Amino acid sequence: MTEYIVINGENPLQGNVSISGAKNAAVAILPAAIASSGVCVIDNLPLIEDVTNLSNAMNSMGAKCTLQDPHTLVVDARDVTGYTLSEKLSKNTRASYYFMGALLGRFKKAIVPLPGGCDLGSRPIDYHLKGFAALGATYVQEHGVVKLEAEKLRGANIYLDCPSVGATINIMIAAVFAEGITTIENAAKEPHVVDTANFLNKLGAKIGGAGTATIRVIGVPSLGGGEYTVIPDPIETGTYMIAAAITGGDITVDNIIPKHMDSVTAKLTEMGCDITEGTDWIRVRAGSDLRPCEVKTAFYPGFPTDLQPQMATLLCKAQGTSVITENIFEHRFRYINELKRLGAQLKVEGRTAITRGHCVFTGARVTASDLRAGAALVLAGLCAKGETAICGVSHLDRGYERFEEKFRALGADIKRVKRDE
Ligand code: EPU
Repeated sequence: MTEYIVINGENPLQGNVSISGAKNAAVAILPAAIASSGVCVIDNLPLIEDVTNLSNAMNSMGAKCTLQDPHTLVVDARDVTGYTLSEKLSKNTRASYYFMGALLGRFKKAIVPLPGGCDLGSRPIDYHLKGFAALGATYVQEHGVVKLEAEKLRGANIYLDCPSVGATINIMIAAVFAEGITTIENAAKEPHVVDTANFLNKLGAKIGGAGTATIRVIGVPSLGGGEYTVIPDPIETGTYMIAAAITGGDITVDNIIPKHMDSVTAKLTEMGCDITEGTDWIRVRAGSDLRPCEVKTAFYPGFPTDLQPQMATLLCKAQGTSVITENIFEHRFRYINELKRLGAQLKVEGRTAITRGHCVFTGARVTASDLRAGAALVLAGLCAKGETAICGVSHLDRGYERFEEKFRALGADIKRVKRDE
């Protein structure tokens, strides 16, 4: 039996949806918590598989992770002595690479397999490793496992070749324990970088400049415990904003930080949607005719690559030609073949996809190849004529909390079923 998400489309979605904690912040903050010698209470965690996988990984190394309620995890890392992560526990979650920075920082040793996660291209971690080396660590990579070691870590000036989110956060976590001052130049500015820095500062770290291109870390000998609330998820927010636009609906997205959504709000406004916002909400009312536009993915505050598949799906329905350029991951157009089964007309040339718009989606059986590919197929299914059945549901469960329940509350006809292949 295979699990499917089955959607009967063409219902304009209406109402309010509350956004969960940010996946990409949570998956950095949890491994960072193992660097603490105290007890951390982490709130507003999304109920997703990546969070479960990471807390299992922490438990395997001697931490005690206990759910206080479905969104609050108590991480007691006082008795952690292990610095080795098993392959089984690391392979499903890309963010398991953050254990390298956390374990190296606290124990000066880390044995962590190369990470799994969505297949979006080569996704090397060379910037992470070069950063650790600059802090004084040595490393070898054998049989798919990275072994890091240092007698002690020393502050350094580190320049990143590109503002990688993963490298910025990983080096920042290790640098918390480096003697002296570390500066990370050309750092990523994503909201989850800021959130992880705020979390570490709550535990006693001294990190300044997160959210700018230069992060400065003054080393401390150890971290204590603390309570922290994870920021709302900008990508989940953007997915529901696009859901309003693609279904001709009217959705208010609650419990968010509107500033994080500026690049998405700008594009949806350009397309003719009516958008209003308050301190912690955004309302999107679909335009009657969606205008085409150009979208280029970029590092924050640019348009996020994690919303490119969803946005390209919306642009298929615009009244004219749109051009989408993917500048972050070389394989992030892989979803297009499956989207074509639903009626998308998108032509890919290198890093660019072009659609002439005016597409009418019709239901079919499709497979999600990664998390955001799955989101794009759900959005297409929501406005498609007839039934869309999506398999590869585990990808969606890795990153979207209770998504079928949330869409159902907005009026979608969507359910999870098990069927024979
Ligand atoms: N890169 C390198 N070497 C490195 C690190 C990155 O060449 O050592 C390159 C990558 O190949 C890519 C670019 O730099 O071309 C940016 O990669 P980045 O390191 O920023 O991405 P990541 O840390 O692997 C995180 C998110 C992704 C999100 C990207 C970009 C997590 C766990 N993952 O990945 O999230 O797409 O940043 O914002 O935070 C998703 O949520 O669907 C997802 C894939």
